Amino acid sequence: MSGNAVVRLLSESLIRQFPATKIITVDPTNIDDSLLMQDVVPALRNGDVVAFPTETVYGVGANALDANAVSKIFTAKGRPSDNPLIVHVSNFDQLKLLVDPKSFPHSGSLTRTLCDRFWPGPLTILFPKSDKVPSNVTAGHDHVAIRMPAHPIANRIIELSKLPLAAPSANRSGKPSPTCAYHVLQDLGRKQAIIDDPSPNFQFGKGIGVGYIVDGGECPFGVESTVIRMEDKKILRPGSITLEQLQSFDKSFQLFSGIDRLKSKDSKVSMDDQKEIETPATPGLKYTHYAPSVPVYLFEYDDQLEEKIMNFIESKVNENPSIKIGILNSHKQIHYNEWEGGKSFQNNLIVYDIGSSDSPQEIAKNLFAYFRFLDEDKKVDLIVMEGISEEKEGLAVMNRARKAALAVL
Ligand code: TXA
Ligand code: MG
Repeated sequence: MSGNAVVRLLSESLIRQFPATKIITVDPTNIDDSLLMQDVVPALRNGDVVAFPTETVYGVGANALDANAVSKIFTAKGRPSDNPLIVHVSNFDQLKLLVDPKSFPHSGSLTRTLCDRFWPGPLTILFPKSDKVPSNVTAGHDHVAIRMPAHPIANRIIELSKLPLAAPSANRSGKPSPTCAYHVLQDLGRKQAIIDDPSPNFQFGKGIGVGYIVDGGECPFGVESTVIRMEDKKILRPGSITLEQLQSFDKSFQLFSGIDRLKSKDSKVSMDDQKEIETPATPGLKYTHYAPSVPVYLFEYDDQLEEKIMNFIESKVNENPSIKIGILNSHKQIHYNEWEGGKSFQNNLIVYDIGSSDSPQEIAKNLFAYFRFLDEDKKVDLIVMEGISEEKEGLAVMNRARKAALAVL
């Protein structure tokens, strides 16, 4: 099965389950503004939440300057209020509004050079915030995370609404991030109009889920933006912009070493980072993330990868002969149908090719969609994922996989 086969198109039956969520289908290559002006822009200007595609994953956004609108984001996805949000802008005037004037990135600064190179695009930068930014956006922190998305639909929504949009990924809190509208509807679709809000938009105002989803197809990157802090050149969350790309501008960029502290076999965390883990500046670190409802077992990439996986499968099948194991295969040399000694577990294994270990960006694009697919559609009992090397996008892939994993072996 090819790596792209899990993109789900919205089905009539799924749409029927959520009559209080309106889907607005927009072609990203030829945006019809009138579709966005009809519901989406008025909803945002009215202080409501809307889900829309970005080049990384789908986001659920609201006016970043309106604390009440922002509070609806937390409710919509069941997000803990101490996990801050990224603000999305479409120009530098909006950036000026959000950043402490003393810290605005002027031409010639490294920060501005990075903005000019990677914006619009999947790089999120922490800036000291201005007093215009409500404290629930930053969960009380004095820095605000900002990026300028490259997706034409996200961009156009910001331009037409003339609002900076606070937007986390549009999944139910803790689930894998959504890479197509199908995932968003599954997680944030509304079964019933919400009728306890007296505003004219009552049915789209409050409660779990969203009233509007803009469907712009599949997200091109599939893994979230890279979050960086300029003061000490730390990557707080690896993402679509790679460490190597950042180091080509400044060699001192490093991954925040506590990032995978819970699950990594390599527990070398620097003293400074250790302190920060205890009072995290990146609150997202402490939550379980990206996890399907079935356990994920991640096998670190090393010389024994194949042997480790084979032994694991054998022991699981011995425990439960009818077990269904979903396998995310990326190392082409591992052949699950050719077992040494002639054994075969074909009835237990469903093997999917999520991309080649040599092209981590392909795996990044497919990872969340496959987690959801194996869990929700194939209904496997557990997922085995082959680890890959942590070069380029492999760093983000392994970071997300570790967070999703029940165990790293
Ligand atoms: O690609 C993306 O970044 C997507 C799309 C929708 O733009 N958004 C996204 O947002 O992934 P979210 O909320 O799922 O993840 C934001 C991450 C969290 O780990 C959060 O803790 C961190 O960024 N973050 C946000 N604001 C922060 C702040 N002020 N200080 C430190 N970390 C922050
Ligand atoms: Mg998220």
